Amino acid sequence: MWSPNSWRSFPIQQQPTYLDQVALAQVEQQIASFPPLVFAGEARQLRHAFAEVTQGRAFLLQGGDCAESFAEFSAGKIRDTFKVLLQMAVVMTFAAGCPIVKVGRMAGQFAKPRSSDNETINGITLPAYRGDIVNAIEFTQQARRADPSRLLQAYHQSTASLNLLRAFASGGFADLQQLHRWNLDFIENAQLSAKYGELSERIEQSLAFIRACGLGNAPQLREADVFTAHEALLLNYEEALTRRDSLTGDYYACSAHMLWIGDRTRQLDGAHVEFLRGVYNPIGVKVGPSMQLDELIQLIDVLNPNNDPGRLNLIVRMGAANVDKHLPQLLRRVKDEGRNVLWSTDPMHGNTIKSSNGYKTRDFASIMHEVRSFFAIHRAEGTYAGGVHIEMTGQNVTECIGGTKLISEDNLADRYHTHCDPRLNADQALELAFAIADELKR
Ligand code: TRP
Ligand code: MN
Repeated sequence: MWSPNSWRSFPIQQQPTYLDQVALAQVEQQIASFPPLVFAGEARQLRHAFAEVTQGRAFLLQGGDCAESFAEFSAGKIRDTFKVLLQMAVVMTFAAGCPIVKVGRMAGQFAKPRSSDNETINGITLPAYRGDIVNAIEFTQQARRADPSRLLQAYHQSTASLNLLRAFASGGFADLQQLHRWNLDFIENAQLSAKYGELSERIEQSLAFIRACGLGNAPQLREADVFTAHEALLLNYEEALTRRDSLTGDYYACSAHMLWIGDRTRQLDGAHVEFLRGVYNPIGVKVGPSMQLDELIQLIDVLNPNNDPGRLNLIVRMGAANVDKHLPQLLRRVKDEGRNVLWSTDPMHGNTIKSSNGYKTRDFASIMHEVRSFFAIHRAEGTYAGGVHIEMTGQNVTECIGGTKLISEDNLADRYHTHCDPRLNADQALELAFAIADELKR
């Protein structure tokens, strides 16, 4: 029998060790008494949108920070990331002629799985940094202690972020008639800004026509639907924000519209699968190179027993060099078994490398390569390439090499700000959107 806390009797990976269990329980109770961040009707709306994507009538765009941070929390940062998401969405909407479902890795993306529980530097071993919701990144005993009060801070920061996102989405900022105002001053590549300028002009012309026809005030033009998502890693936090919908009696995880399970926590008999199978939100599962065919079908059946096309997003993260080897057989098997899933590509996590000067980075060329392969493989298999999931920011960072600005290894040090994985900057994200637009037009 599933219940919001049934995961507690299953084996669990990637959890922090809290020394003060009493304080932890108090925080969990407090969060359980707080208002939910999203409500069930919105999560159902996203399920409908996912069903449209799964059936080939829309495309999914997911993006945001690898990890949000407490220190880098400001209106400007949220605005700029949202702005790039909107720009990408516009480029893709225009090319595909179909709705782009916009989901931010925002307002709750704090917890990180780690390859090791500990980190050793110069002979000193401390707990690994697991994201600001758990501990601090500084390499001291005090900073690395898992602190329950950080769960509260993450909740409050998420509410503020979501509040601003909602205001942007419906308060005029996302108005298509404001398109030219989303230009970021540092998109400096001439070719890229010319391309975007040309597209904005064509859209503005179309809008002038629509206004002339008397439809300029339609909310569909003035507002954008924006949803939030994060990795459901800390199940005590997710449990505390799980609510029963009074309308349907179903349970929803109300920390975000969509939650996903990471490639490291997707064990069939594990706590994460147990928790997520019981909430009615749309959910994602990261699919890496180790995924076996039978295992995938079993996972699909546990998480989506009714084969609902709006429920499950498989987020493929193979790496540019591996995607040809692994993806075709997965697509074939799922298709043969008649399972309805939304396939999307995460071209970031399989392409992480270390630069010769010691930075964790990603080559933009590999990212583009994995995206293009993803589309090509779907075309060959007769399946639908439904979405993309990226780590990006609206800031002018230098974390991934390549792109039209030609960031080299030597440039990485200039503005390398991420607390976790390297993100696309605004230029790179927009360039990627144009590449996806080309694929969607084919
Ligand atoms: N409401 C539509 C949507 O969300 C159209 C739209 C309005 C839009 N503002 C937007 C699309 C900004 C992309 C970006 O898709
Ligand atoms: Mn990441």
